[in-house]
Formats: sequence, C-alpha cells, structure tokens
Amino acid sequence: EMVEKQGYTHYMLKEIYEQPRAVAAAIEPHVNPEFFSVALKNIGFGQSVQKLEELDSKADWEKTKEVLKNIDRVFIIACGTSNYAGMVGKYLIEQLAKVPVEVDIASEFRYRNPVIPPKSLVMTISQSGETADTLAAIRMAKEMGATTLSICNVRNSTIDREADGHLYMNSGPEIGVASTKAFTSTMAVLNCFAIGFARLRGTMDEATEKELVKSLLAVPSQMEGVLAYDKYFEEAASKLKLFRGFLYMGRGSSFPIAMEGALKLKELAYMHAEGYAAGEMKHGPLALIDERMAIVMVAPTDHLYEKTISNLEEARARGGKVISIGTGDNEKLRAISEHYLAIPKAHWTTNSILTVIPLQLMSYHLACNLGYDVDQPRNLAKSVTVE
Ligand code: AGP
Repeated sequence: EMVEKQGYTHYMLKEIYEQPRAVAAAIEPHVNPEFFSVALKNIGFGQSVQKLEELDSKADWEKTKEVLKNIDRVFIIACGTSNYAGMVGKYLIEQLAKVPVEVDIASEFRYRNPVIPPKSLVMTISQSGETADTLAAIRMAKEMGATTLSICNVRNSTIDREADGHLYMNSGPEIGVASTKAFTSTMAVLNCFAIGFARLRGTMDEATEKELVKSLLAVPSQMEGVLAYDKYFEEAASKLKLFRGFLYMGRGSSFPIAMEGALKLKELAYMHAEGYAAGEMKHGPLALIDERMAIVMVAPTDHLYEKTISNLEEARARGGKVISIGTGDNEKLRAISEHYLAIPKAHWTTNSILTVIPLQLMSYHLACNLGYDVDQPRNLAKSVTVE
C-alpha cells in the first residue's frame, strides 16, 4: 500500500477530507488569483502528453482559444460518478458559454452511432483514464473527426494519451472504489473550462468572470466547514439505516448531485436509492413514498429553490421523512426536515461542489454502521477496464 491511510479508518474517509486541497489543486493552474481571471493552462491541443509540462503556457492558451472558437457543440462522455460530473458540466457550459451540450454514458454513446457534427468537441471524463467504454468512445469520436479533450486524474493514462487536449483533476491517487475527491475536483475543472470558454465566446463579461472566479476560489475553505457533518452522520447512521429506501431529488445542477448521492448509497451501503429530477416526482416516484421512505432533497438557494421546495412539500405530505441540504440557516427547510444539512452561501456554479459532501459522508457512515467494506464494496472494481 504505497498510499497510506494517514490515520484515517478508510481511504474513502481520507479522500473525503482531502477534497478542499484537491479542489484547490484542480483550480490552481487555470486561475489568476490576482486578477480573478481564467486562462486554461497547458491543454496542449495537438501535443503529446509528455510535452505538456514544457509548453509555453501563453502560446498554448492562444492555441486553445483558436481550437475552442471553432466549437459549436460539446459532447461529454463518461461512466458512473464521472458521468454525473459531466451532467454538472452541461449546466455550466450551456448557461455560461451558451453552447449546446449533450451528456452521454460511454457504453450508450459508443453503440448508438451518434451524430457528431463538424465543429464538435468530445470531452471525456475519467478518474482512472482506463475505463474501457470511455476509451472506446474517445477513439470513435476521433475517428469521426471530432476534437477530443479529456479530463483525467491519472496523467499519461490511456485515455489521456489518446485525447487531443488534456485537463487534469489533480486530486492525487484515489484508492477508495467510491469516487469522492475526483468528482469534486472535476466539477472545479469544469467551472474553469466553462468560464474560459464563455469569455472567449463573448458570452461573459469581465465582471462576471471575476465574480465566478472569486466564488470558485472560496470553495476549498467553504468545504472545510461542510466536513463537520462527519460527526453528525456518525451518530445519525443507526437511525438512518432503518429506512426502506432513499429517494434523492434536486433540480438544475442539483439533479446530478441527487444521482450521485443515490449511487454512493447503493455502492457503499447496498441500500435501495434512486436519484430523480425533483420535477419528475409527479410522473411516478411519488407512489413510492410512505413513512419508511427517506426523501433526500438537494435544495441550495438558487433560481430553482422555490420550485424545489414545492416538490419537497408534496413528498412530505405523502409521509416521506425529509433529509435536506440547503444554504445557510434556512429555517423553513430546518422546520420541515428530520435532518437539515447546511452549506455556506455560494454561487449556483459552485453549490454542487459543496452539496455533495454531506451525501458522501452519509453513505460512508451508513456503510460503516452496517459493517460493510467501504473501500472495497462487493462486486465492484476501482476501474472498469473490460466491458
Ligand atoms: C463511483 O463511485 C464509481 N465507483 C464509478 O461509478 C466510477 O466513477 C466509474 O467507474 C468511472 O470511472 P472513471 O472515472 O475512472 O472512468
């Protein structure tokens, strides 16, 4: 075991705690903290991975701008947790850069004969850089003439080497099978990408860039505070494990966080969980709700907050017990929830990096309480290198 647990009970817990540092490392190459501006560093379009470090950053940024100016459609391809990070990326890129984004699961994308118009950027996200379906997808996209860009954690991994352009999570080794810090780091990188892309496409002014970069730079210290929910869930776990099922919900960029929260619970605690877009409840899942069902609502204060709350009230009226995540001291949410978890006030672009942390900790402690192997959940491998 080359990477030590450093006193933590599990690699996963260590990696959860490493997130503030990992996010700072993901942002660091791309933002200028003096001017609160973004310049994507050493993406290296057309260069080999080995050469990236030696590139002249300024010249490379010019090259990146030239490539990205020609892009009018983005595809994001990934599996599992990386796919949910991609969904967050869709909200960021579409809202900020006004470029249409399609997010696809790699195993679907590669077999459905996708239409990839000229001027498309196919972006893959993979912590390991070795996921078989994601690798096949990027190879196919290249063959079809698309420009490819990979976001990887492992430098010089197969996917990283195959891609035209390269971005890195900079999370350090992730050992726990359940992905945590790679997920939050990817959302931070996608923030940088979306801001940089928006600026060069002229859809964002300098003042907004400054505002967004400031909120991004604030995230690592905001994350530190949210980690305090570790103790909370250690105690709450014995009660939470009695639920029959968990329905995670959110709207907008909180929808992928609901999906990710549900995935974490499934893979670690082996409990039934579903992630849903909150607006879909009436279309079926409402029938699942009774007092043995936990409703996990991701409801930070953003432009969709009021709508999310009315979905929450519908769920509660059917007897569901509420675990909610909101912004600051939200008395309303606190009053209608069995468990209320607060994140600090943040811009909508960074909320997702914060709201996922209580969900990671909840799954971690439920799994520990139930006596399961957190770092090596049954039937799973860290990296899925065969179909
Ligand atoms: C997440 O907790 C997973 N174990 C899994 O979904 C993972 O994110 C997926 O296999 C993708 O892996 P990658 O990022 O290494 O490509």
